[in-house]
Amino acid sequence: IDRYAVFGNPIKHSKSPFIHQQFAKQTGQELSYEKLLAPVDGFEDAVTIFFEQGGKGANVTVPFKEQAFVLCNQCSASAQLAKAVNTLWLDENGNLIGDNTDGLGLVADLERQFGDIAKKSIVILGAGGAVRGCIYPLLDKKVNRIVIANRTKVKATDLASEINEPNVKGMGLDDLSADTDCDILINATSSGVEGKVPYISNEFIHAQIKAYDMFYGSEKTAFIEWVEQRGITQSADGLGMLVGQAAESFTRWRNVKPQIEPVLLQLRKQML
Ligand code: ATR
Repeated sequence: IDRYAVFGNPIKHSKSPFIHQQFAKQTGQELSYEKLLAPVDGFEDAVTIFFEQGGKGANVTVPFKEQAFVLCNQCSASAQLAKAVNTLWLDENGNLIGDNTDGLGLVADLERQFGDIAKKSIVILGAGGAVRGCIYPLLDKKVNRIVIANRTKVKATDLASEINEPNVKGMGLDDLSADTDCDILINATSSGVEGKVPYISNEFIHAQIKAYDMFYGSEKTAFIEWVEQRGITQSADGLGMLVGQAAESFTRWRNVKPQIEPVLLQLRKQML
């Protein structure tokens, strides 16, 4: 039986085994998928042993995504910009291949929730790994423009320079104003971990904006509560992105694309 796993630390609360087991059931595949706790300084050993023992593929989560990027022999453009890898497998020659499916998971969920994103103006809050991972997948969808707005402005402007595309711009959170075009607002900061909201001015927010929070939880996230209080009616949290990135990993490993929706519904029920 083909063996898969997710590596992280901590890993106890990972939903990946549930998601992939559901995908396997759905597509009639036989496989196992387990959570593996790697020691903080022992990721490379753990992954090497896993593949030596016949492991077929692995997901990687916090805090090992950057180490996975360094470890793999070959990786996608998205993973290169992110400098982070969340999906690993071996090719027929035994090379370790890495990809970052977080951005594709985001894009799939945005389109599922909000419709076609081509020609839309995107404002994304943050400038860390979570933002890096989704820039190319967004550009591939031919969005009109991406504004990266970060609390520390220079991180956003540096990232925009590194991407070097005419329709990607970096700015400070406090540069967002009524003049900033925005169809879709994405929170990719880690502020949700502490139940906080990135500070942005009220005059920037208007009711037609669709808001997406990469963060999720059993209760409504602080960011979604905040935008709703400001009149936004179309919003979604990041649980669909989680299932979406898993679906992209599964597709790379198994060559078959599972359905997101039924698994998302079950997950949501479990979390209540
Ligand atoms: P990740 O991999 O999740 O992107 P990261 O690389 O540590 O994590 O980046 C965290 C991001 O969240 C940063 O953009 C950070 O802003 P700074 O660069 O100014 O630190 C942002 N962030 C975290 N807490 C925030 C808060 N309370 N308000 C606004 N931005 C916040």
